[in-house]
Amino acid sequence: MTSPELESLTIIKYPDPRLRKICEPVVEFDASLRALADRMIVLMNQAEGIGLAAPQVGILKQMFVCAIIGKPKDSMVFVNPTLADLDGEAEAAEEGCLSIPEVTVTVKRPVKCRIDAHDLDGNPVAFEATELMARCWQHECDHLNGRLIIDRMSPADRVANRRALKRLESRFGG
Ligand code: NI
Repeated sequence: MTSPELESLTIIKYPDPRLRKICEPVVEFDASLRALADRMIVLMNQAEGIGLAAPQVGILKQMFVCAIIGKPKDSMVFVNPTLADLDGEAEAAEEGCLSIPEVTVTVKRPVKCRIDAHDLDGNPVAFEATELMARCWQHECDHLNGRLIIDRMSPADRVANRRALKRLESRFGG
């Protein structure tokens, strides 16, 4: 990807159909992948988010970036991630998504998880997390499978978010 192409990337919004695609694994760990990750980190920070998946900038590859909780200036990149150890205790908490502004959904997720992935050089990495960071990894991995928080809405969430979703839908159509 050329640098003007990278510069032109923005965070796409629901109901853009690219948010519903299953992402392809990354096979080339090159300078262009690193440049994409850098650009995604900039966009995530500008939007004051704690995670951003490649499909959210219209790139259908298995990669996401996330902030390190408690260290807002640092971030991590996960390529071809898979989650494990999801069988522990689950907890419900409110989540938002940079691609679905003004929508909040209460999502129940395992409190702890493990992530196996590759770094930008293609080296395998594995980490464990709890609480917010574990939640963020699970939310971002959902994105790589075309899954959004609005798929997990309770009837009450559905009512509360109806207007905001309608607004996004009409903006996208027009
Ligand atoms: Ni999201």
